[in-house]
Order: sequence, then structure tokens, then C-alpha cells
Amino acid sequence: MPVAIFISPEGERREVNVLKNASAMSAAVQGGVRGIVAECGGSCACATCHVYVDPSCIDLLPPPGELEDELLDAVAAERRPNSRLSCQIKITPELDGRLVFQVPDQQ
Ligand code: FES
Repeated sequence: MPVAIFISPEGERREVNVLKNASAMSAAVQGGVRGIVAECGGSCACATCHVYVDPSCIDLLPPPGELEDELLDAVAAERRPNSRLSCQIKITPELDGRLVFQVPDQQ
């Protein structure tokens, strides 16, 4: 089972298991990562699953789609070049252990 790594605003590092082809958001929620609210349940409609992708691994991901890009303008924390909505990031087996996400201090 692949794992993804989340870093809390306080710097706590947490590895969570990811069900096959699940999103980073659902892995975070199921893994009890604090700070991923995901109000819309992954429909790309709430912007409360915002994460910062660690620059070391951002090139492993395809760029955000048009809808995600628009919604990123509505995130509560500062939007940065490495901002993504975690519900739109699928964790494939090839990404096992390679993705690191910083959770912003507000959603
Ligand atoms: S969970 Fe709502 S936009 Fe990601």
C-alpha cells in the first residue's frame, strides 16, 4: 500500500497509507491528518483540502486542471506556486513515499 507524507503547520511529520489510486485528500482524512477539512468530499468545490507540495516532488505531479486552478484562488491560506487541492492529486503506486505535503495553517 503506497504511503504519502504530510507535515503539519507545527512541523509534525506523518506517513499515511493510501488505498489504491485514492486521492491525497482521502488518504489524509482516513489517516487522521489534522487541517485537511475537505468539506465537499473531493468534488473540487470547497478549497478546504489545500496543501503545499514540497518543491522536491512537485515535478512528479501533472499540473492542476482548469477547475482546480480557479478554485485555488479561493484558498484561505496564501496561494503559492506549489499550492494544490489534495482531492485532485491521485497517489499511484509509482508515487509511493515520494510525495510530501505541507498542510497550511488555515483552510
Ligand atoms: S475536498 Fe473540496 S475541493 Fe478538495
